This record gives sequence, C-alpha cells and structure tokens, in this order.
Amino acid sequence: MIEIAPSLLSADFTRLSEAISSVADGGATILHVDVMDGHFVPNITIGLPVVRSLRKATKLTIDTHLMIDQPGRYAVEFVKAGADMVSIHIEADAHIHRTLTAIREAGAKAGIAINPGTSLSSIEDSIQYADFVLLMSVNPGFGGQSFIETSIPRLKRLRAMIAEQGLQTRIEIDGGIDEHNIRSVVEAGAEILVAGTAVYGKEDPAAAVRNLIESGSVWV
Ligand code: DX5
Ligand code: ZN
Repeated sequence: MIEIAPSLLSADFTRLSEAISSVADGGATILHVDVMDGHFVPNITIGLPVVRSLRKATKLTIDTHLMIDQPGRYAVEFVKAGADMVSIHIEADAHIHRTLTAIREAGAKAGIAINPGTSLSSIEDSIQYADFVLLMSVNPGFGGQSFIETSIPRLKRLRAMIAEQGLQTRIEIDGGIDEHNIRSVVEAGAEILVAGTAVYGKEDPAAAVRNLIESGSVWV
C-alpha cells in the first residue's frame, strides 16, 4: 500500500486547517511537516508550537522531517508535541543510533533522512535502528524543485540493502514527486510519497491527492 504525505510547506500557513481537511478528503494518511533551522538548510520554517496545534487539529499521522543541525537536541520534543514519525538527517547527527533509539523509546517511528549526494553506505549500519528511511530526491530546503533522476537507482539500491539485512524498513521519498514520476518511484521501492507542490500547488488539493494515489498505484 502506498501512502501520500502532503507537505504543508507548500500550503497557505494562514489556512492550515483547510489544508489538512482537503488532503484528508482526498485520501492522504500522513501530514509531512518540514522543520528547517536556517543552519542545516538555507531556510527557516516552523517548529514545535505548530506541531502542537496540528496535533489538536487532526488524527492523521504527523510526520516531522527535521532539517536541523544536531537533531538529537529536539527529536524527543517533537514526539512530545505530537509527532508520530520523526526523521533526522544522517548528515546532521554524529550520534544517529542514540537519537533514533530515543525517538522510538518516546513512542514514535524513527526515520533516517539522507540527502541526494550522501552515499547510501553511510546509513547501512543504522537502518536496523530505524522504522523508515527518508530518501531525499531534491536538496532539502525548498519546495517546488525538480526531481533528481538518479534517485530511482538509489531507491532500488536502498530497497536491496534493506532486503539483504532482512528488515521491514519502509522507504519514504521526498522532493519533486508528481503524477508523472510517482509510478516509477513506487516501482523502485518507495511506499510513502511526500508531495508539496503537486498537492497544494493545485486548485483542488483533494483531487490532486486522489490523482497521485491513482497514478502511483501498481495493480498486479
Ligand atoms: C524539501 C522538503 C520537502 C518539500 C517537498 O526540503 O523536505 O518536503 O516540501 O516539496 P515538493 O513536493 O514541492 O518538492
Ligand atoms: Zn520534507
């Protein structure tokens, strides 16, 4: 089963509750929340107070993508604020095992996020401590960028790496996903599809989510 995770980064921040209900109507199950600190990435977005408000407003799974330096300082705080999934970047955390374990112990799913230019071998020994891997298919920092095509062979290699270790780790892909490439990323092994522009950049976000589910579903 694929799951669509609309990224609120491309939503109207003054109308978040509408942004949530529209994608829920379309069949989205996860809300992707991009947290940026202006250090790890060249942009600043939202943080804990907004996650606390989102938690009160929805039963959808809240997926916080922490694009922040030393995420171990804040990861558990995001779980306490109501996040169900918390991902941290391998490039930002020298103590990834400790942080992943802390996220799990706090009661959320722990994810390792990895940038397009970072070798997959850097996460090989940590995947076993994660519930999901978030493979970036753009350089993190902004919505609306083009999908980096080499993400397809990377997805396949990641899928093989997970299978070799006999793990059930899920793969989330983030960046430039739309109705044209969603099928190929699903076929390459992605199960959770983040989409910002392809959802909130459209007139009708609910219809956009429905269309992504339809386009990405591989019927056998
Ligand atoms: C980029 C963020 C993404 C972004 C995706 O740094 O991690 O989640 O919102 O937006 P689109 O789908 O427009 O590439
Ligand atoms: Zn993201």
